[in-house]
Amino acid sequence: MDVALSGSRPTGKLHMGNYFGAVQNYVKLQEEDFKSFFFIADYHSLTTHPSADYLKPNVREVLIDYLACGLDPEKTAIYIQSDLPETLELFTILNMFANKGELEKVPTFKEKIRQKNQTINAGLLTYPVLMAADILIHRANKVPVGRDQVQHIEMTRNFASRFNQMYKTDFLPEPQPYVFAGEPIKVPGLDGSTKMSKSLGDKNCVYLSDMPEDILKKVKKAKTDGGPETPNSEKPQEVQNLFEIMKLVSDASTYEHFNNAYNNCEIRYGDFKNQIAEDLIAFNKPFRERIADLSKQEDYLKQVTKRGGEQAKESARATLDGVRRIIGIDYY
Ligand code: ADP
Ligand code: TRP
Repeated sequence: MDVALSGSRPTGKLHMGNYFGAVQNYVKLQEEDFKSFFFIADYHSLTTHPSADYLKPNVREVLIDYLACGLDPEKTAIYIQSDLPETLELFTILNMFANKGELEKVPTFKEKIRQKNQTINAGLLTYPVLMAADILIHRANKVPVGRDQVQHIEMTRNFASRFNQMYKTDFLPEPQPYVFAGEPIKVPGLDGSTKMSKSLGDKNCVYLSDMPEDILKKVKKAKTDGGPETPNSEKPQEVQNLFEIMKLVSDASTYEHFNNAYNNCEIRYGDFKNQIAEDLIAFNKPFRERIADLSKQEDYLKQVTKRGGEQAKESARATLDGVRRIIGIDYY
């Protein structure tokens, strides 16, 4: 049976970009006939030395948001990475199949080197190996990820294939990024940036947990220009962004109405923004309500991660037993 796995670092609440670009795919994947795992990558986030005060609320927020989006503990084993230290044994073993040179060439690592004031710890260098361990510990072969993670999956394939060649086995699968049909969706920011990203601040992002009044305020403050002066003129980036967001949350006819108004130089940005805010609020409503509801269910959250952790452990033990046997770590 195919095994699917994905994970997310505990970086706090999810925004619409996360939802449309990645999370909705994990949720859809549960409908496939796969065994599926989802975990919160708290070990990975240690590369940037978060404080103890940071970790707990952020793990909780990510967990709640994913559950609110429809990740279903009946269909997916949902666990926290540090509840599965078996991952770290496989990480050590996989490190023997990762070359220093290839790790140094990973674009995200090179970016860290470029940021001059950052200390480069070994955890940043071996980030892709830990990710490979997350995947291979369940012998997962399908990994739904955003486009930015595809290279990491490619590296996982290389580590698995080198292991298999060295030990003349096919025990570790060579996983593929799982990409859904159609163009990957990229959600732009409200502040004129081409990407919605929490690193760009609250003016850029609409969070799934945002209250209606927050959304209205943010949309009203979103950048626009003085309005089109000639019919059918090209939209400036910030206006184009608002149209792209509208396309995701409004009816096609509403989008057409405002698009025509723009093309005829009749658009009134006040009305346009009110409509976007109204539709965003309606889109977010079920998420916001489930988030509020789950936030009160501490016992349930505990139960979900406990059960998910147990299921993950069973799968991980089977993989590690196999790996140890193949390597010869099997003495007395
Ligand atoms: P952020 O940029 O806010 O820090 P992350 O890097 O944590 O977001 O993204 C987690 C996942 O969500 C990734 O798989 C990424 O591809 C996806 N994602 C993030 N922002 C967007 C966006 N604006 N549009 C589409 N997908 C996105
Ligand atoms: N690196 C991923 C991210 O930043 C999170 C992650 C860690 C992950 N391990 C993984 C994703 C294994 C998929 C599979 O979004």
